[in-house]
Formats: sequence, C-alpha cells, structure tokens
Amino acid sequence: MTCFTPNSVTITLILIIRLWCGFVNSTPNTTIDKEVCSGGTYLAGDPYTNSVAYVLDEVMINTPYSPGYQYGVFSPFLNSPALGFGGCAQFLSPLECSSCMVAAFNEVLKRCCGYVSGAVILTDCSIGYKDIEPDL
Ligand SMILES: *[C@@H]1O[C@H](CO)[C@@H](O)[C@H](O)[C@H]1NC(C)=O
Repeated sequence: MTCFTPNSVTITLILIIRLWCGFVNSTPNTTIDKEVCSGGTYLAGDPYTNSVAYVLDEVMINTPYSPGYQYGVFSPFLNSPALGFGGCAQFLSPLECSSCMVAAFNEVLKRCCGYVSGAVILTDCSIGYKDIEPDL
C-alpha cells in the first residue's frame, strides 16, 4: 500500500540545526529493542493516515523540548482521531533526544505502515501511536 511519508522539511530542519550547532557526533543508541504493530490495518487514503502523520510528526518535534522528555498529543482531526506519544532517556541532551526521535519516527513509519496502532522502543527513546475511536 501507499503510505504517508516523513515530513522531510522537519527532518531536514533538524539535521541543519544539528550541523549548525556542531553536534554531529551526538550518538544516542538507536538499537531497536521492541516493536509492536497491532490493531489491524487500514487502507491507503483513509483519513486516519493524516491523523497518524500529524501525531508522529508532533511527537518527533516536541519530545526533546518537553518536561522529563515525555510527550503526548492528540490529532486535531475529528475524523479518525489518533493519539501519539514519545519519550527519551533522561541522560540524553535535547539534541541527542531529537536525533533519536528522528530514528524512532522513521522506524515506526517503516515497520508499522498501515497498522492502526504502532510503537517502537529503541534503547534510548521510543515513539508510538494509536487510534482513539470510542467503542460504541
Ligand atoms: C545499544 O543498546 C544495545 C541493547 O539495547 C546494546 O546491545 C548495544 O551494545 C548498545 N550499543 C552501544 C554502542 O552502546
């Protein structure tokens, strides 16, 4: 199926900022410890695609600048809403956390493409999303 793609502008900006700040050597451990893709699948073009893309993008951007390196967000779209969440190891610098989140973001997109819920836990950070459709 066709899947949403990472927000390349966001990734490019993060990389530029990292280079600009001279932190190219920051190396969070991005070994994948666990991945969970569940809740069935949805079809390309489903409005849920936008919700997942939105929350993952927000989590990737905001986790490094959130208290305790923990961040959660709901999509603003009433149609097929999603919840996204992320976290970084406390000993990382914000730039290392950011670098780790970019890796986690790319992995969850690649590995859980088309799944209703997904999460990847890297050694130094994690990211995930799920639907919040009420059970009627
Ligand atoms: C990264 O973490 C994995 C396990 O989580 C460990 O096996 C590996 O040695 C670590 N790599 C580095 C460079 O510390």
